Amino acid sequence: MSKSFMVGIVGAGVIGTAHAGALEGIGNATVVGVAEPREEAGRKLADKYEAHWHSSYTDLLADPEIDLVILGTPSGLHPEQTILAAGAGKHVITEKPMSITHDGATRMIEAVDRAGVTLAVIFQNRLSRDVYRVKRAIEAGLIGKPILGSASVFWHRSQDYYDANGGWRGTWALDGGGVLINQSIHTIDVLQWMLGGVASVQAHVATLNHQIEAEDAASASLRFHSGAVGSILVTTSAAQDFPTRVEIIGSEGRVTLENNVVSHFEGKRELSDDLLSDDDLVTVRDWKPVEAFGEGHRRQLRLIFDALAAGKEPPIPGREARKAVDVILGIYESARSGMRIDIAGSGPEGRS
Ligand SMILES: NC(=O)c1ccc[n+]([C@@H]2O[C@H](COP(=O)([O-])OP(=O)(O)OC[C@H]3O[C@@H](n4cnc5c(N)ncnc54)[C@H](O)[C@@H]3O)[C@@H](O)[C@H]2O)c1
Repeated sequence: MSKSFMVGIVGAGVIGTAHAGALEGIGNATVVGVAEPREEAGRKLADKYEAHWHSSYTDLLADPEIDLVILGTPSGLHPEQTILAAGAGKHVITEKPMSITHDGATRMIEAVDRAGVTLAVIFQNRLSRDVYRVKRAIEAGLIGKPILGSASVFWHRSQDYYDANGGWRGTWALDGGGVLINQSIHTIDVLQWMLGGVASVQAHVATLNHQIEAEDAASASLRFHSGAVGSILVTTSAAQDFPTRVEIIGSEGRVTLENNVVSHFEGKRELSDDLLSDDDLVTVRDWKPVEAFGEGHRRQLRLIFDALAAGKEPPIPGREARKAVDVILGIYESARSGMRIDIAGSGPEGRS
């Protein structure tokens, strides 16, 4: 019988609650603890799963029954919480962004390596069947040489959204920025992954429609390692949520994804599952074009726990998740300095 993991949920907010719900569909993981400083929220979530509520994270880590923690806390807390968990011998699943600094991400990777535990980062949108098909189609040359790649996120977020739960969203200290690092990181990650990594950026950011410290609109010009060029255009100030878009123009084709589903493809032959490896097919199994909130989390969590039980590396490891963080940090630095910025860690190791 496969190993069953005892899980501590850290943060009983929007995503901590979604993780607990997503684990209900997974046979080999059980919520046994919840760490949350807000007593009412913490007790409510813990009681639902007959788990222990801890007002402090270090108390949860002291529970020897817990094998693994899921971090659903404000992003700026992820590095220190990961390092503490690794020191206590627990595996870590953290929400995106893994860190709001390059140094924080690196210290997380080093801490789990040192402790011999595993770190997986939630990037559920990358695990779409169509995202995998397009990635493999580009690698197989189906759209010819990649020329242009763009990502856009035009969403609406209210001022109330930013003010909730102590107002951490849109702050530099806890969110690490605004629309780029919080809402858009999934789409930026998909674009950088499909085109084999970003080498340099040049950017503008603006705060136009919210009372927040960081940006609610941004535009960036990119050069990829392949030589292709591209753009990122994102905001939380749109009148409503429009589908996210990733568009790639090749010398012999073109592809558009809307909400991680292909809406247009022209290439040397049709997209199909025969482009996918056996491992890819495992990764995208159970994917549906329209996923209810939490479904993508359930799929990634199932892959993570299956990999842990088999002693394999789960998707998506820290080194891989750091790439999108580095692109975004480069965009902030470019906007601040007015200079073109080479992306940290984007050498050959950063390009896989
Ligand atoms: N993958 C996704 O699609 C997705 C969606 C939403 C949020 N997120 C990520 O999840 C994280 C949390 O976002 P959210 O929207 O759930 O925020 P939230 O404000 O709803 O929840 C955060 C919770 O953490 C608690 N908290 C704060 N400090 C803590 C500590 N030291 N120990 C334990 N708990 C603590 C807060 O009280 C709050 O309940 C962020 O990193 C965000 O980027 C990911």
